[in-house]
This record gives sequence, structure tokens and C-alpha cells, in this order.
Amino acid sequence: MSDIILGIESSCDDTSAAVIRDGYLLSNVLASQDVHKCYGGVIPELASRAHQLNIVPVVSEAINRAGIKPEEITAIAFTRGPGLLGSLLVGTSFAKGLALSLDVPLVEVNHLQGHVLANFVKQYDRENHCPSFPYLCLLVSGGNSQIVKVNGPLDFEILGQTIDDAVGEAFDKCSKMLGLGYPGGPVIDRLAKQGNPDRFTFSKPHIPGLDYSFSGIKTSLLYFVRDEMAKDPEFMEKNKEDICASFQRTLIDILMDKLIKAAKLTGIKEVTIGGGVSANSGLRSRIEEEGRKRGWNTYLPEFKFTTDNAAMIAIAGYYHYLNGERTSLDVAPVSRIADFHKE
Ligand code: KG4
Repeated sequence: MSDIILGIESSCDDTSAAVIRDGYLLSNVLASQDVHKCYGGVIPELASRAHQLNIVPVVSEAINRAGIKPEEITAIAFTRGPGLLGSLLVGTSFAKGLALSLDVPLVEVNHLQGHVLANFVKQYDRENHCPSFPYLCLLVSGGNSQIVKVNGPLDFEILGQTIDDAVGEAFDKCSKMLGLGYPGGPVIDRLAKQGNPDRFTFSKPHIPGLDYSFSGIKTSLLYFVRDEMAKDPEFMEKNKEDICASFQRTLIDILMDKLIKAAKLTGIKEVTIGGGVSANSGLRSRIEEEGRKRGWNTYLPEFKFTTDNAAMIAIAGYYHYLNGERTSLDVAPVSRIADFHKE
């Protein structure tokens, strides 16, 4: 008999539901929230209200597109955290209610595990390439920047992580400061394609080991632009492509330096990326280029599996389900990773 998992993701500003059968994707539906655009960042209260509006139609659509009946669902996997508490509460409560009404088990998923396992979502209509264990995952999103050693589907070791801002935060905050829009990553990525990455130099942090820091580069960029604008008020407008290209290149250099170091230290040559920033075209081509030079097998998730999506939650939930894990109906969401195993 097949295992059909319904995944539900609501950790930030995307409501998503997906259905997988024995690890193969049947549907993946996503409702993004435009309401935050005019604020230049996600407003938690507005996000949870939008999730409340979206959750029923998104889950129904995922079940319909999968061509299954709700009674065929084997288990419901949901994002328990980390993320925005109000947003997580909507997905968690809905998952509980549906699990209760269908009388199926509930399986909690750590959102970050979802990103790390995104390459394992298989699709019927193509060849599926999954990394073999152990592999390294560069997990880069709006809230995290980590190098994770993945020993098995449920066995992770964090080798390094940011000590301050996440790389996605650096993209978003700098884009906001420069008046380029939100979310910053896609805007900077687009402008960077038309610019010269060697034109400007921004200082890189010197952090020991495999940890990252992204807060200094923000200041470096801001002061540079402010000083240049004092000389020429149109400096930003005239040079935005080169500024974005040079800034993005610096972020990619910082990420890659530590990833290369981690690969050397561990001797691992299976390398993946995950999280919203893994959609970045510069980072994707750089990882492939370094991979070719260093004999790595690199795995890049499809764009639809880079940002928040329920397919990755469903696949992570599937592995937990196969491992016999079940979540009690009195589970509460957690906003921080450190709170996951507290109770
Ligand atoms: O994983 P994600 O959807 O959300 C969480 O952080 O949970 O990641 C969102 C982040 C944002 O910071 C956004 O600017 C960044 O991913 N992002 C990108 C690109 N697309 C999204 N960053 C760089 N280049 C992109 N093309």
C-alpha cells in the first residue's frame, strides 16, 4: 500500500500545501502574500491573517490537484517551527483539526530540515537525482545561513552558521536601504546580471572556523553609498547594476569560502544548497563552477523547491513517518529552533 502524505507549510509569508505518494510529488500549491510588499518586510500580524484566509483553499486545491480523496491521506506533516508564531499557529491548528477529522497521524517537521531535504522530492515526469549520504548542504534563507552535514534523512550536524544576520537578511536589508524594493534577493539578483561584479569592493568578515557573519557588509555597503552620494546625488541611480553585482559577488564569495573549507575538512564531495537564497542565479552558477573544479557532485533544487514550499515539508514528514514518529494533538508551534526539544 502507498503512503500518501499531505504537507502543510505556514512558517512565514507563504501558505503552501503539497501531496506526495511514496516520496513522489502529486501536487504542490502555494499562495504568496503580496500584502507585505508596501512595508518592505513581513508584518507578522498580517501574515497570520492571510494564512487564515488561504489555508482552506490551498489545502483543498492540493488535494484536488493530486487526484486523491481526503480519506486516502496516510499522515499529515506540518511545519512546527522555526518561524513566525502566529503564522505557524494557523498551519499547526489546521493540521491538527484535519488529522483529527480524518483520524490519521500528525507528524511535525522542522522547517530547516525541509529545506535540507528538498532534493529528495521525486517527480514522476523526470529523472530524479538525489545526493548520497553524507552530503553537505549550504542552507541559505531569510532567517538562516548554515553549513549542514547530512548523515541520513533524519541525522544532521550543523558545522557552521551565522553569528548575526542571515545572508537573505543581508540581501533584504540592503535592498531596502538602497530603495530597491522587497524582497531584496530577487531584485538584487536581477540587477546584478546587468552589472560588473569587479567594479566595487566591500569588506569581508574574518570569522574563525565555519561560521558566517553578514552584518558588517551591510554597514560597509551603506557607508560606501552614502559617501558616494554626498559627491554625486545620482550615484546610486547611475551605478545600481554594478553596486548590486559587486555586493552579490561579495556575499557569494563569503558563502563559498566556508563551504569549500567544510568540503576540505570533511572530505565530502556531495554538495547541495537549499533555502530561498539558493534561487540566486549567481550562487547557483558559482556552486556548479566550483563543483566542476573540485570534483563535487552538486545538486541544485528546482526554483519551486528553493523558497518556502510544502513539498519539502511533506518529504521530511514522510521520513519521520517511516521512522515511526508521531506527534501528539496537543503539540504547540515553536518560533525558535532552540525551543524544539524543550518540553
Ligand atoms: O527560505 P525563504 O523563502 O524564507 C525563509 O527565510 O524562511 O527565503 C527567503 C529569502 C529572502 O531573504 C529573499 O530575499 C531570498 O530568500 N531570495 C533570494 C532570491 N530569491 C529569494 N536571495 C537571493 N537571490 C534570489 N534570487
